[in-house]
Amino acid sequence: MKISIVGGGYVGLVTGTCFAQLGHDVTIIEINAEKVRVINNGQPPICEIGLEDLLKQHAGKTLRACAEFNSIASADIVLICVGTPPKPDGSSDLSYIESASSSVGTALKNNSSYCCVVVKSTVPPGTTEKIVRSVVLKNSEKSEDTIGFAMNPEFLREGRAVEDFLHPDRIVIGSDDPRAEKQVADLYRGISAPVIHTSLSAAEMIKYTSNAFLATKISFSNEIGNICKHLGIDVYEVMKGVGYDPRIGPLFLHAGAGFGGSCFPKDVSSLVSLAQIAGENPVLLQSVLTVNEQQPHRMVAFLEEKLGSISEKRIAVLGLAFKDNTDDIRDSRAIPVIRELLQKKAYVSAYDPMAVSNMQQIFPDIKYFSCAADALAGSDGCLVMTEWPEFSLLDKEFDLMSQRIIIEGRRILTCKGADGICW
Ligand code: UGA
Repeated sequence: MKISIVGGGYVGLVTGTCFAQLGHDVTIIEINAEKVRVINNGQPPICEIGLEDLLKQHAGKTLRACAEFNSIASADIVLICVGTPPKPDGSSDLSYIESASSSVGTALKNNSSYCCVVVKSTVPPGTTEKIVRSVVLKNSEKSEDTIGFAMNPEFLREGRAVEDFLHPDRIVIGSDDPRAEKQVADLYRGISAPVIHTSLSAAEMIKYTSNAFLATKISFSNEIGNICKHLGIDVYEVMKGVGYDPRIGPLFLHAGAGFGGSCFPKDVSSLVSLAQIAGENPVLLQSVLTVNEQQPHRMVAFLEEKLGSISEKRIAVLGLAFKDNTDDIRDSRAIPVIRELLQKKAYVSAYDPMAVSNMQQIFPDIKYFSCAADALAGSDGCLVMTEWPEFSLLDKEFDLMSQRIIIEGRRILTCKGADGICW
């Protein structure tokens, strides 16, 4: 099939490259000229395992990027993969969805065949119906006989996105048009996974609900971990025993510094805001966010308990990315930790294998090091904020500290003498 993808960001690029791998002809429409250039050269602008290999195989052949919407004139399917960033009140900013829909609609005037417009971006329920469908139809001046609509959420984890795309747990296709539904299902031919057909708004809600449930598992584990810490119990032993119950499952029960990234905090906030607009008081979801906001403060409080005043003390922060295997620092739990350390007049020595240059944009004045040992040398305390596998090997490096006070926000160290935030 001929696919046009609006937005060459994280989701658009991974999706487009994987669809090229499945044998489709893909055009990524992206306004950032530098991204267009690197994609066409077969170089991914993001770090993602397996992406470069696939991009190199298909760029310039069945995959290309450009700024124009011309490819839509001959597209069988258009996927909208633009951002839906949070507004200050937690709700989603849908302006990119609106402008993408308007450009897609205008470009569809020149498409003489049936084309299906699919929303992949995470959007509040009702968006595909009320915004995308109406803006596309208005701008295309066409009827629904020639344009179909569907909502097909992504479930890609950063760092494992290619693997998640090619081996998904499920494919959710929301649509009220059997022709559109079939066209989207055909896109995934070659991938073995259950296909779940739903209404447009149920598909939109499935994405929010999945992320909110996963975030809830984490905050729940953190709250149990905080209680276990007081009782002198290892929460990891507890959750291991709990996770064997198939009704609960063993995944996403890792207690620690809380969840970050571009999805969980944003999607739970957006769901809270949707609930409030609907007149609900979503106390559980609000608590999920509250627990998550408190965990970083607990890290600093625990450090103060061990060290006394941290004013003018040197604190090593190991791990800046929101999780391992990425340079992404969006909503990383290291950010509130560093902010509080600085407020309390501590000096920060930071290290991360990939995320230093991104964190320099937020905290240009703290000290950054190119290895953990250098960040630890002379430090009075250490906070471990990311589950980087290389941290599991650290031991004698901690002897370089002026005192070996180590607090783990992620269960990753194997050396003796570290204290976990929840264990
Ligand atoms: C998440 C979901 O896992 C994906 O299924 C979803 O498609 C994606 O959001 C999205 O909406 O696009 P991602 O944000 O890449 O993926 O990261 P995760 O691996 O889920 O981790 C999120 C955060 O939770 C990290 O900060 C991680 O350290 C933390 N976490 C995860 C825990 O604190 N405990 C756990 O047990 C698991």
